[in-house]
Amino acid sequence: MCGIIGYTGDQPAKDILINGLKQLEYRGYDSAGVAVLDPDTGVFLKKKTGKVEELEKAAASEETKATCGIGHTRWATHGGVTEENAHPHSQGSVTICHNGIIENYKELTTEYGLKNILKSETDTEVVAALLDKFYEGDPYKTIKKVVDLLAGSFALCILFDDQPGKIFAIRNVSPMVAAAFDGGSIIASDLTAVINFSKKYFVVPEYHILTLSESGIAVQDLKGRAVEPEILEVNWDITSAQKGGFPHYMLKEINEQPAALERTIAPRIHDGLPSFEDDGIDDDIFKNLSNIVIVACGTAMHAGMVGKSLIEAKLRIPVTVEIASEFRYKDPIIDERTLTIVVSQSGETIDTLEALKISKSKGSKVLSIVNVKGSTIARESDYVLYTHAGPEIAVASTKAYTVQISAMYLIAARLGLVKGILSEDEVREFITKLSNAGELMTRTIEASDEIRHVANHIKNAPDVFYIGRGIDYTMSLEASLKLKEISYIHCEAYAAGELKHGTIALIAEQVPVIAIATDESVYAKVISNVREVKSRGAYVILISQEGKVENSEVCDKQICIPKTDSEFGVFATAVILQLIAYYTSDAKGLDVDKPRNLAKSVTVE
Ligand code: M6R
Repeated sequence: MCGIIGYTGDQPAKDILINGLKQLEYRGYDSAGVAVLDPDTGVFLKKKTGKVEELEKAAASEETKATCGIGHTRWATHGGVTEENAHPHSQGSVTICHNGIIENYKELTTEYGLKNILKSETDTEVVAALLDKFYEGDPYKTIKKVVDLLAGSFALCILFDDQPGKIFAIRNVSPMVAAAFDGGSIIASDLTAVINFSKKYFVVPEYHILTLSESGIAVQDLKGRAVEPEILEVNWDITSAQKGGFPHYMLKEINEQPAALERTIAPRIHDGLPSFEDDGIDDDIFKNLSNIVIVACGTAMHAGMVGKSLIEAKLRIPVTVEIASEFRYKDPIIDERTLTIVVSQSGETIDTLEALKISKSKGSKVLSIVNVKGSTIARESDYVLYTHAGPEIAVASTKAYTVQISAMYLIAARLGLVKGILSEDEVREFITKLSNAGELMTRTIEASDEIRHVANHIKNAPDVFYIGRGIDYTMSLEASLKLKEISYIHCEAYAAGELKHGTIALIAEQVPVIAIATDESVYAKVISNVREVKSRGAYVILISQEGKVENSEVCDKQICIPKTDSEFGVFATAVILQLIAYYTSDAKGLDVDKPRNLAKSVTVE
């Protein structure tokens, strides 16, 4: 979490940093700050609680021509949301920004007697204090010495008062990318803040010390050797990371789904069959597997659950879906014949990354489904299937989710083919239907007005229930997460048949129950469960396929997805549940794209 940025060049730095922080704000937004280093007047530091906009207002009247500085947008971990705890942190001649967690900051505070000089409650200020304590004019030596003492994850941007025009940086686990361009250098937590300056960039290698200056970036390993990082080129431009006329990123990203799906699947269909040749994914990982473990968090995990439903039903291969943060600490049952599929939009989620490492250590091959090119999870995996959603800025994941599902479907098809479980004709038919899923989403998006009415109905409800069976139950889990995270309404997802074992006690007059019943094979069963809640006074919204018309004895409102095979209904259903959450949050006047307490990229345990 947290977004950090550093710029040094031939332009005044303050506004560049603040604009960059706006691009990074989705990573954390409880407070923000900038520090610029002027060779004549020293460090100018401004911090503010609230969003970057507050910082911008507070810093607007401050004139500084300094052309070198660092900035930070925070998601609090150590210490509350206060100006003192906001970054950057200064100690003596050192000013730093940090993303990550220093696990041994308390021990270091005691060991080096720092308690009395610290002004904040953060782990970060301890690093600033140590850098200042050991600094004798050689930044490289000092950083190396301090980093040797640190346990945990960190991306650090550092200014030394007597090093004008220079930013020093180092990282472990927490992400940073950097670029040198005509007139300066920039470093940031992710590309959205870099791309305005350069389309060529590099992923900062772990445990390497960077020196950024107006003339370029020097990279050295911890033995002092110069290193040439691999230069990558980004294949999208900044307009993809802007709202493009939509009131919110989330709505824009919901609308982008058909195109994102097309970009993800089309290049992997050769002669009507799925092929991962261009991704360098070896068919042997499919040939030899006995079972699959899917590991992920949040929405990405829900995409994994859809994958499980499909693979188990179609291929009869056992699949378990694991919450990455649980998987890490349970000594999972995995061996060389287990294929681990890791799913992550950002490719930086720390729990998922650590789970990946555990799988690898047990001999399992790891195939990851990742959206962000060059991210840590992508780099650590044996094989990567990149989704091509483009940048996803809204904290609530939408387009990343549906492309993750499409990637799961491609994997299922290839697996079925390679193992001889499905014939070529069966796979071709499956792939044709998958290719048509974008059209189903487009039609659903076009009919979004009726979804807005549902949102108006539920916006004042204290509780909402989603119910479904089979694949629709997995969709309910995602629907519930989406509604909770951006509308702050308590929402539970229940397997429709399970309600009667306790939760139905919560159903009273006018409690909204949204029943997802797109799977034809269990439709009648779900309708029975719907009747159970309806007869207890619930306000029922039924999501079904076209052609299933129910009267007011069953539901109060019905929304239909276009008619399709049950396993492909998920794409259109996803649009409906995303729009319900979106319109509800918007109707409540909430900050749709930046819900409270959250951050887009979760790089802490
Ligand atoms: O970047 P990742 O896909 O690894 O992120 C995993 C979750 O943090 C993420 O899906 C989260 O649940 C979404 N923001 C929910 O909309």
